[in-house]
Amino acid sequence: MKVNQAEFIISAVGPSQYPEDALPEIALAGRSNVGKSSLINRMINRKNLARTSSQPGKTQTLNYYKINEDLYFVDLPGYGYAKVSKTQREQWGKFIENYLLNREPLKLVMQLIDLRHPPTKDDQAMYQWLRHHDVPVLVVATKADKIPKSRWQKHAKVVRETLGMDQGFHPLLFSSELGLGKDELWELIEKQIGY
Ligand code: GTP
Ligand code: MG
Repeated sequence: MKVNQAEFIISAVGPSQYPEDALPEIALAGRSNVGKSSLINRMINRKNLARTSSQPGKTQTLNYYKINEDLYFVDLPGYGYAKVSKTQREQWGKFIENYLLNREPLKLVMQLIDLRHPPTKDDQAMYQWLRHHDVPVLVVATKADKIPKSRWQKHAKVVRETLGMDQGFHPLLFSSELGLGKDELWELIEKQIGY
């Protein structure tokens, strides 16, 4: 997809604020700091449209980015951030759960995993939950530039096995730093939204 226009639309705190134009939505899920906002910026070739930060847990709303008149990227709050309270975590859970289960224009969830480390318990729970509810999910393994290329396949295998991905499914290797995986990811997104 050629990105001609990308704009921030809204930080939504509830369904009444979701866009009503029914464009397909591609959501990004993953632990705080895994690189969700960075991936969006890389996909649209903008340095900092989606706000990135080295402070985890910054994004607490559903952040909508409109790409051309074609789709939205929806940046979800990072999960598994220890410093938020239990009550906050539970509220987060309900809010996101509702979105993921009931949002009609949602076409795909990209679940980001840090390629350097085995998926955490939270990563595993998220993946299993999405699969259980038949939410289309694509696992994207980020920060590939932080490990030598010679170890990519070995790490990808750990990601696949730890999450319990089915035979024939593989994480897509990505680096926001290098742009690795960008074209392949766009192709998969286009296919998923019938572009
Ligand atoms: P929250 O909004 O807190 O949930 O975090 P996030 O998932 O949006 O992460 P963000 O994109 O803000 O990235 C966190 C940090 O990791 C930043 O310092 C980024 O520069 C860095 N980062 C993200 N992706 C990559 C990558 O592919 N390679 C490298 N080297 N650094 C990355
Ligand atoms: Mg973010």
